[in-house]
Amino acid sequence: MSWTHYVLFLLLVSRWCITGESSSPEVTDDVAPMEISEREALYSAIQGFVGDSWNGSDLYPDPCGWTPIQGVSCDIYNDLWYVTDLTLGLVHENSLPCTASLKLKPQLFELKHLKSLSFFNCFTSPMKIPKEDWINLGSNLESLEFRSNPGLIGELPETIGSLTKLKSLVVLENGFNGKVPASLCNLTSLKRLVLAGNLFTGKIPDCFNGFKDLLILDLSGNSLSGTLPSTIGEMVSLLKLDLSNNQLEGKLPQEIGVLKNLTLLDLRNNRISGGLSQNVEKIRSLTDLVLSGNPVDTDDMMGIKWESMGSLVNLDLSKMGLRGEIPSGLTKLKRLRFLGLNDNDLTGTVPSRELETLPCLGALYINGNNLSGELRFSRKFYEKMGTRFKASKNPNLCQYEIVSESQHYVPPLGLKPCKMKKTEGNLVILQTLSNLEKEDQSSSSSMGVMVTRHVLSNGFMWDLLLELSLIVLLK
Ligand SMILES: *[C@@H]1O[C@H](CO)[C@@H](O)[C@H](O)[C@H]1NC(C)=O
Ligand SMILES: *[C@@H]1O[C@H](CO)[C@@H](O)[C@H](O)[C@H]1NC(C)=O
Ligand SMILES: *[C@@H]1O[C@H](CO)[C@@H](O)[C@H](O)[C@H]1NC(C)=O
Ligand SMILES: *[C@@H]1O[C@H](CO)[C@@H](O)[C@H](O)[C@H]1NC(C)=O
Repeated sequence: MSWTHYVLFLLLVSRWCITGESSSPEVTDDVAPMEISEREALYSAIQGFVGDSWNGSDLYPDPCGWTPIQGVSCDIYNDLWYVTDLTLGLVHENSLPCTASLKLKPQLFELKHLKSLSFFNCFTSPMKIPKEDWINLGSNLESLEFRSNPGLIGELPETIGSLTKLKSLVVLENGFNGKVPASLCNLTSLKRLVLAGNLFTGKIPDCFNGFKDLLILDLSGNSLSGTLPSTIGEMVSLLKLDLSNNQLEGKLPQEIGVLKNLTLLDLRNNRISGGLSQNVEKIRSLTDLVLSGNPVDTDDMMGIKWESMGSLVNLDLSKMGLRGEIPSGLTKLKRLRFLGLNDNDLTGTVPSRELETLPCLGALYINGNNLSGELRFSRKFYEKMGTRFKASKNPNLCQYEIVSESQHYVPPLGLKPCKMKKTEGNLVILQTLSNLEKEDQSSSSSMGVMVTRHVLSNGFMWDLLLELSLIVLLK
């Protein structure tokens, strides 16, 4: 033990006695030896963020040992302790908040074993991050995060591309603008690349051929333009692809079908046009497919074998200028919870009975189309859906009359009841029979005779008998 450590040790022991704490007394033995330069670099780096009044050596004499600093983790290399993780900004209640006049000190880049560096809610007043120095962290840094730093403006420095060991680069909800640096193409070890919620413009670099390990690519919420990169299909491991809320245009690339492990594809609110790629149906693992708000303007929706995408849970195809009928394949997606087809130009009838059989369906939007005919959903269905069902703004669509004594039943808004064409015997019988064939849960009849489910709770046979007797009466 060097004399400085010895002095420090005595100092710590005396402090210990003065404050009179009694738990884990052997902690004083655990002075974690560090290179002096490493420790000074740590103090300086932190001081740059929290302000000059912060005195690290005074408050945290043993930062990798018994006086840990919130947001700092260390590890041993050759019997000495080095900082491996550094998180700056308000993550926890007791973390050190960044001052408004913070400085990114050069000492930060002297922490040679740093593996993970995060800035959360730290930069509040406008500043750019320096271009220099990043290369010094290149041999170890695996994770770099800038989250929720509205003050971070300007371009993301090209030199970030020298951090070739990076597995995770998260640049989420800051004020960065300019182009996405092409040097990011060098970061071929990345598993996660998130640049969402900034002000990036220009094209997405077309260099994903190197990104064989990438699992998550999220560039959503920027102003990126141009076409989708054709190399997109080469990110063979990809699980989530979110490019939503940009200004991307052109067609959905055929290559998308190669991404066999993709579970989320979110391209909503872009300018993607020129039809849907039939290759979408090849992504069997997809649980979330969100393409809404793109002027796709097509009737090729029918050409897709929707039934082959049996993992789909959320399917949003609203506001896309889709024409044609609602494809029957959609009614075979047993896991579907959310189906958005609203604000298109869909025509034809609604396969209500088939849709009603989907066991998980909890939201269905077909409003704002030109659908026609009768909706035959049951009262039970409407009760389950509540406001998560919308069918209004389809001028030629009507609701088959549901008569209910339930006070909970609120009919769906904006739908007119279907008019009865004739009330003479035969026609009513026809209508009643077709009603029976389709096993009406809500038990209504075209004549407005109430069938109370409370009494006839064991079901269908009773409905049948009752309705048959009604038919006999009418005759
Ligand atoms: C921190 O405090 C120590 C005494 O505890 C003092 O010697 C040192 O000068 C102070 N450093 C700064 C930067 O204020
Ligand atoms: C990226 O790699 C290329 C060669 O592979 C190299 O010329 C370039 O300097 C690298 N860029 C950065 C920012 O490291
Ligand atoms: C896709 O996922 C499976 C199962 O998780 C995995 O075994 C396979 O390696 C993945 N494919 C790629 C190309 O990463
Ligand atoms: C809606 O569909 C009907 C046929 O069902 C057609 O006559 C009408 O022109 C369509 N309306 C619009 C606005 O496309």
